[in-house]
Amino acid sequence: MNRGAVIPVIAIDGPSASGKGTVAKQVARALGWRYLDSGALYRLVALAAIESSVGWEDAARLAEIAGRLDVRFEGEEIWLAGRRATDAIRTEACSIGASRCAAVPAVRNALLDRQRRFREAPGLVAEGRDMGSVVFPDAALKVFLTASAEARAERRHKQLIDKGIPANIQTLLRDLQERDARDAERPVAPLKQLPDARLLDTTRLTVDEAVAQVLGWYRERAGAA
Ligand code: DC
Repeated sequence: MNRGAVIPVIAIDGPSASGKGTVAKQVARALGWRYLDSGALYRLVALAAIESSVGWEDAARLAEIAGRLDVRFEGEEIWLAGRRATDAIRTEACSIGASRCAAVPAVRNALLDRQRRFREAPGLVAEGRDMGSVVFPDAALKVFLTASAEARAERRHKQLIDKGIPANIQTLLRDLQERDARDAERPVAPLKQLPDARLLDTTRLTVDEAVAQVLGWYRERAGAA
């Protein structure tokens, strides 16, 4: 069966802290579709690697971890091997580790089928870096969602301060730029805007405006199909 022909996917790719997670989740909710946070999978590989003391240069063991990742997504909660990992994967150590794991081709391969299995009726909104290029190249709509580095650092800063976590905008900006460079310059599945992706710059948009734009584009496509 050609699942691609029947189950639509909206692929939302973009850099760290661009707000694509929030937008993707709300688009999925509005359509009543499933949602895939592919970055969480790389973060889970990093968490499992840290817990097993596996180094970032050990590609074979990282791929093995990715292949047998025992993960459960339940609403907003994420479980790794039966333990709640929702907050643990958002630490700075896991962010850096995820970006290292994501540069390993064998890790990316090991996560491919797992990501594609999220494609279930009536549809899927998938967000990450290579949703439109590698995982769901036949997506009904591809969006490249971004914002200026300064706006992204400010949003991350506000999130941390709201949670009572001390943060420095300059450090956040530098970390974001370093991670952007690593994600965009790696040889496998680098982050880039595809020629067939719509560009959504959210620097001056509210979340509601960004969600409405994605839904509008999808309805345009679906109407035209
Ligand atoms: O979206 P995020 O910040 O949770 O992603 C964590 C890391 O995983 C980030 O460095 C980019 C990488 N990633 C990737 O390479 N491919 C994806 N589809 C999703 C995330």
